[in-house]
Formats: sequence, structure tokens, C-alpha cells
Amino acid sequence: MKTLLLALLLLPIAAIGDDSRQLVKLPPAAQESLRQEMLDNLVAVNEVLTLMAEGKVKEAGEAAETKLGMAAMGKHRGKPVDARPGPHMPPAMHGIGMDGHRAVSEFAAVAKTGDRDKALALLPNLTSACVGCHFSYRTR
Ligand code: HEC
Repeated sequence: MKTLLLALLLLPIAAIGDDSRQLVKLPPAAQESLRQEMLDNLVAVNEVLTLMAEGKVKEAGEAAETKLGMAAMGKHRGKPVDARPGPHMPPAMHGIGMDGHRAVSEFAAVAKTGDRDKALALLPNLTSACVGCHFSYRTR
């Protein structure tokens, strides 16, 4: 969580002027795996938001956990190292990703109880890491 908070504090600085985000070079195969995972992330976020809007709070929790939470970690484990994004990321960047999965699981655990108000209060947990990482790092 600490890396995530730090990244968010740095957000206004990163947003000013030239692209000052740290460039991280990933092997092409790892970059492709990451890109695909990111598109899946985007669809998953939209799905969870839609379920929440429909009042399907428990379903939102299930979807969040399986697609974005801790349960979604290790998707690239079976691939050759060159195609796995994690091992090529600087530790701080990787940390933001891990913290993000944890934060989603925190939301998911509450949503799975069906408590809409508590789940809504934790809804930003879904996207904080997306913002934190994208504002700190780029790959091209
Ligand atoms: C740990 C860092 C990190 C986190 C966390 C992260 N991303 Fe990304 N994301 C990246 C990087 C790096 C790229 C650029 C990948 C590339 O080189 O194509 C990217 C690219 C993307 C893209 C563009 C894909 C394309 O077609 O080019 C989308 C959309 C995206 N991310 C959505 C998300 C969403 C939604 C979340 C949160 C649920 C998220 N990301 C969390 C690092 C991250």
C-alpha cells in the first residue's frame, strides 16, 4: 500500500509538462502479454462498475476478485520468462501492481457480503493502482 500512496502523491508532479514518467523497457513478448492483460483489466473494471450500478453487489465482488484481485495474480506464470511482465519490472512498479491486486481483494471481500454502502466506499480501490502505475511508468 505504501508504494501506491507514494505514487499517488507524486501524481501532480508527473502530470506537469513533459512526460517525466520512468521508461521501463520490457522484452517484446512481455510487453504483448501486459498489453493483453491491460485490455482485460479495462473490461473487468467496466464489468464490476456495471454490476455495482445494477445493485448486483455480491456478483461485483466475485467478478472483481477473480478478474482483478489476488485470485487474478500469476496469470503469466506458465509462460517463458521473456513473456512474463513481472520479472522485468522495477520492484517499485511491480509493488504497485501487487498492492493493486490486494486493494481490489479488499473491495471484493466487502462486496461479497452484499453490503452496498461499504462496497461503494471501497470502490476506488478498483482503479487506484491503474492510475498510480500509469502516472509513474511508461514502456514506450
Ligand atoms: C504495475 C503497473 C500497471 C498497473 C497497476 C496497471 N497498468 Fe495498465 N499498463 C501498464 C503499462 C506498462 C502499459 C503499457 C503496456 C505496453 O507497453 O503496451 C499499460 C497499458 C494499459 C492499457 C493500454 C493497452 C493497449 O492497448 O495499449 C490499458 C487500457 C490499461 N493499461 C488499463 C489498466 C487498468 C484498467 C488498470 C487497473 C485495473 C491498469 N491498467 C493497471 C502498467 C500498469
